[in-house]
Amino acid sequence: MDPLLLRFLHVGGVIALFASLGAILMGGSAKKSASILHGISLLIVLLVGFAILKKPPMGEPWWMIKLGIWFFIGAAPALAKRKVMAPPLVLALCILAGLAAAWLGIHRGF
Ligand code: HEM
Repeated sequence: MDPLLLRFLHVGGVIALFASLGAILMGGSAKKSASILHGISLLIVLLVGFAILKKPPMGEPWWMIKLGIWFFIGAAPALAKRKVMAPPLVLALCILAGLAAAWLGIHRGF
């Protein structure tokens, strides 16, 4: 597939992911649909991320760190639900983690 289209889809997934986090963590009336959007967009970000990579470069740690960030953002709603952290703190950490993931994607490293 066109590499530019794949990047576009990856960023589209990220946008939907953060929209769902806003709805889940800031409260709202559509938490169920927000959770569904969270799951679907997480999957898109992951699958399209690996589609861009084609063959993950084993010697380069940046994409493995992104995988860890992806996992954290995936677990974030549960952290708030189980009262491990306050929802605004979880959202703030997700935004910082998302920025770090974007940096790693753009620079392919540090
Ligand atoms: C929620 C976590 C993630 C966020 C917020 C995120 C965000 C981004 C952003 C903003 C870009 C830059 C797009 C561009 O400039 O075209 C990018 C690129 C990329 N991301 Fe992610 N990403 C995440 C997770 C992942 C995962 C899990 C993988 C797969 C291991 C991945 C693989 C890539 C690749 C391969 C690129 C393109 C690098 C290049 O241009 O050569 N990302 N990501």
